[in-house]
Amino acid sequence: MAFSSPSLWFLGLLVSLCWGTTLASEAKIGYGYRMTSLEESTFNGGSLIGYLKVKQSTSKYGPDIPNLRLFVKHENQDRLRVHITDADNPRWEVPYNLLPRTAPPPLTKNLKISSQFSLPSYPGSNLIFRFEPDPFYFAVTRKSTGETIFNTSGFDFVFKDQYIQLSTQLPKTASLYGLGESTQPGGIRLRPNDPYTLYTTDISAINLNTDLYGSHPIYMDLRNNRGSVSAHGVLLLNSNGMDVFYKGTSLTYKIIGGLLDFYFFSGPRPLDVVDQYTTLIGRPAAMPYWALGFHQCRWGYKNLSVVEGVVEGYKKANIPLDVIWNDDDHMDAAKDFTLDPINYPRPKLLEFLDRIHSEGMHYIVLIDPGIAVNSSYGVYQRGMQKDVFIKWDGQPYLAQVWPGPVYYPDYLNPNGVSWWVDEISRFHQLVPVDGLWIDMNEASNFCTGKCVIPTTHQCPEPNSTTPWVCCLDCKNITNTRWDNPPYKINASGKSAPLGYNTIATSATHYDGVLEYNAHSLYGFSQAIATHKALLGLDGKRPFILSRSSFVGSGSYAAHWTGDNKGTWEDLKYSISTMLNFGLFGMPMVGSDICGFYPAAVPLEELCNRWIQLGAFYPFSRDHANFASPRQELYQWDSVAKSARNALGLRYKLLPYLYTLIYEAHLTGAPVARPVFFSFPEFTPSYGLSTQFLLGSGVMVSPVLEQGATSVKAMFPPGSWYNLFDMTKAVISKDATLVTLDAPLNEVNVHVYQGMVLPMQHGGVISKEARQTPFTLVIAFPYGTDGAEAKGKVYVDDDERPEMTLVEGEATYVEFEASVKGKTVTVTSNVQMGKYSLSKGLMIEKMSVLGLQGKGKELAIEVDGTALVNTTSVYFNQVGEVQEEVEGGSKKGML
Ligand code: GLC
Repeated sequence: MAFSSPSLWFLGLLVSLCWGTTLASEAKIGYGYRMTSLEESTFNGGSLIGYLKVKQSTSKYGPDIPNLRLFVKHENQDRLRVHITDADNPRWEVPYNLLPRTAPPPLTKNLKISSQFSLPSYPGSNLIFRFEPDPFYFAVTRKSTGETIFNTSGFDFVFKDQYIQLSTQLPKTASLYGLGESTQPGGIRLRPNDPYTLYTTDISAINLNTDLYGSHPIYMDLRNNRGSVSAHGVLLLNSNGMDVFYKGTSLTYKIIGGLLDFYFFSGPRPLDVVDQYTTLIGRPAAMPYWALGFHQCRWGYKNLSVVEGVVEGYKKANIPLDVIWNDDDHMDAAKDFTLDPINYPRPKLLEFLDRIHSEGMHYIVLIDPGIAVNSSYGVYQRGMQKDVFIKWDGQPYLAQVWPGPVYYPDYLNPNGVSWWVDEISRFHQLVPVDGLWIDMNEASNFCTGKCVIPTTHQCPEPNSTTPWVCCLDCKNITNTRWDNPPYKINASGKSAPLGYNTIATSATHYDGVLEYNAHSLYGFSQAIATHKALLGLDGKRPFILSRSSFVGSGSYAAHWTGDNKGTWEDLKYSISTMLNFGLFGMPMVGSDICGFYPAAVPLEELCNRWIQLGAFYPFSRDHANFASPRQELYQWDSVAKSARNALGLRYKLLPYLYTLIYEAHLTGAPVARPVFFSFPEFTPSYGLSTQFLLGSGVMVSPVLEQGATSVKAMFPPGSWYNLFDMTKAVISKDATLVTLDAPLNEVNVHVYQGMVLPMQHGGVISKEARQTPFTLVIAFPYGTDGAEAKGKVYVDDDERPEMTLVEGEATYVEFEASVKGKTVTVTSNVQMGKYSLSKGLMIEKMSVLGLQGKGKELAIEVDGTALVNTTSVYFNQVGEVQEEVEGGSKKGML
């Protein structure tokens, strides 16, 4: 029921009843609630507060909560919130200090029952909240089209302490995306009847359709109703474990705790949805420029000489490398914040770091949350003194990870955070790392249950070949309702106990918070604490890579998709997971290039293809397990060639990628995007999961099949120019697949018409590449007089923590180009300047694509001045370069 003024009450009631009759006719008799009162509240600018009483109850999964409180509010013009909780007792919800947002009003019993109520309208809002009182259900509709985007009518609505169930109807035209993290063999579009379980879990990414490391209860729904296209987003902000059943025409949440806190984002375009979503959950983190370079890692770099050899290997092969990583090999007996005195002696490591730092390279190491229980270990001692560990029955909860027996720091505990910040600062004095990799933070545990250190045997030496076998004496805990809840989510893809290989769910955090509720927040809270620590070191922009994530993690960390395998399938699946994380507001994402677990097939060809795809992951890192054959890109001549080629283009595109990071930080826009983000009207792209866009119009079409030397690719209508060879173009009219040549060392990357793409010379290290002159690639629709193209570039110094437009410290330029007759006009709108001019950056070349029959007479005008002596490439016909003019440069635009 929704109407904007009480005077319309009577009319509104009529409208509502008619509407209700239509939908209610589909309703089954089921479990649910009825509304007993509703009040318009002045809370924070206007909202609705209602009370619900259980109408028909069920004893399955425990008693129903008798009274619920409903709170509805337009939080801004694009976002509607529906919050439902126990009316009599406070319940767990995602802490407001962790994910800042406005708390609903406190529970109160004193609301008067009123028959005159309405949700105050929000100027410009396109969302309408409707409801029926008995049985209670609600719907959200779109004002402009009347379309229903969420509708709980016709389904059971159950609200118990440990089981909440609610469903929505979906039309057949809905295409859904999101609800992760899981490896989705079906691609980005959710497949009806695939399971979607959300609970942070360390089972490797090779497990399909199961709950993995992150929990992101958000989906985007994209609909094309006979040409009328709209997208919206639905977030259920809840950190408890849940199963989501998607049946095609309905979606059902089954959640084991917390409350219902829905946020509806009105879109209507996919980019609007992520913008609106990240307005709520926090914008993606600013990333340092160097983090966009290539990264090399491996579990099993036994000593520093091996690491030095790897850096040398890249140099000799002339393959770009910006960041070298250590897994846990540098540690003393797998203990965080320590160095192995024999294999990674500090003086030698410092020398090495001085050397690579002076060349502009960076160094990152891994840390795990599990702190070794070892009374002679300072990190442990200080943690015990400050009482920072998660507890079970009043004692630190004992688990096992790489170092053997460990305790887990509690990042919900303010003392835990300050202790962690201090430990990172101490470590940074020992080793000046440039970023941190926080792994195993679901949290992963090799044991399950209640454990004690065995008296009869010892845990294997850390770094032995099977350190993950549980060696503690453990008993399953089955006698608490937290460890053994009435409803079993499909945890680990097999309805495993909730505490399986993680912290027992009856363990407690600070202030008595149950692990049962806070489980999926562990990696998120660790990322926040780690970010705080890095910011406090020397004020540089932090870089954190986190395996586990939750709603909001993208504001602090990058993500990689976890433990995959060297298979052609995993190469392909990496695209969907990467694209999902863009939607989750965590756009700095990539997969272990060439695969983490040992390859199931000969690696050389796969690695060729993987670097061709991985060079265009926002986060591009080669990483492997100690049992895998060595797979640095220089290990094979053919892979080295592919790497030079693909990473060569990446390094030329770094200014574009960095500008995309800026855009992400400003608006949430993903760096790597599904094709439908730019072409929502192009329905054939809705399930496209084998190609993707960088930004709005750079299409990557990788080879994903063994033995292939061509790739069949789909291009939305228009002109697409090959970035490796700009004489080649695809002029697409429809969804017909185009066969592109893709010999072993080549990948297809195209730029779309209408773009002005900033590129630089490239190089083997980003520090140098970013000092080189710019080329603007101006792509017009082929042979179209009067066409326009647009682009932008953001440049700053990535030592600054924030990406903000500060005079003298950043430059942001928007370019507009048009072609009319024989003149190409380019204008630049400098929103903030001085930074890049002071760095001597300039544009030396404009490559104008898509000009048919213009030839030598063509004139280029930049900001009102005719350009002479500028290297320009004019294409008169696709496939043929007509003219190249060598010459000077145009300064002053950057
Ligand atoms: C986990 C990580 C992996 C890492 C390993 C050892 O499996 O996912 O990337 O190499 O732990 O630290």
